[in-house]
Amino acid sequence: MEKTAYLPDQLILAGPAQIAFAGRSNVGKSSLLNKLFGRKNLAKVSQTPGKTRSINYFRVDQGLYLVDLPGYGYAKVGGAERKRWGELLDLYFERSESLIGLVHLIDSRHDPTLLDRQLHEWTAPMVEHHLYVLTKADKISSSKRGQAAEKLKRQLGLEVGQIVLFSTEMPEGKKRILNWISDIIA
Ligand code: GTP
Ligand code: MG
Repeated sequence: MEKTAYLPDQLILAGPAQIAFAGRSNVGKSSLLNKLFGRKNLAKVSQTPGKTRSINYFRVDQGLYLVDLPGYGYAKVGGAERKRWGELLDLYFERSESLIGLVHLIDSRHDPTLLDRQLHEWTAPMVEHHLYVLTKADKISSSKRGQAAEKLKRQLGLEVGQIVLFSTEMPEGKKRILNWISDIIA
């Protein structure tokens, strides 16, 4: 890991391009990053939601950081700490000049939550490229996968090409995410 930010003055505001991964707690952000890197334990994965409490920057090559953002919507985190996370995330989106892409992760088994919708609407004007990843696709049947993508497209007003189905158990989604990343940094 390259760098961790717990506090606003630890954020990396400029420099190499950044692509951030956001979604509710436990949706599979850290697992996805580990798959993209081909490493088992680069980003911490846990059964316990709320594992990633800081903003973690992973330097993949000279020109790029992938950024693991703390998951939102985890009820058991106390009020003061939740507030601190929220403020750090707000500052991250408002000030990170090198942030060019945001990958929104949404559990393929569930409709987007209110917080998912808020993130989508709030970041749309701030970040140039958006990709939506439906996670844990192995947990639904193959016929449901197409339906889940179609439904998300309608719910958030997306285009087909913006949605990827992903599972740590299946290889296909990974390739599309990596292609999207190389396209936007090119
Ligand atoms: P926070 O850091 O708490 O915000 O969570 P996160 O979004 O980083 O989720 P994490 O990657 O830690 O995964 C949460 C749980 O879901 C772990 O138990 C993972 O093993 C599991 N998980 C993640 N991706 C998949 C997937 O594609 N399929 C299945 N079956 N389980 C998954
Ligand atoms: Mg995590």
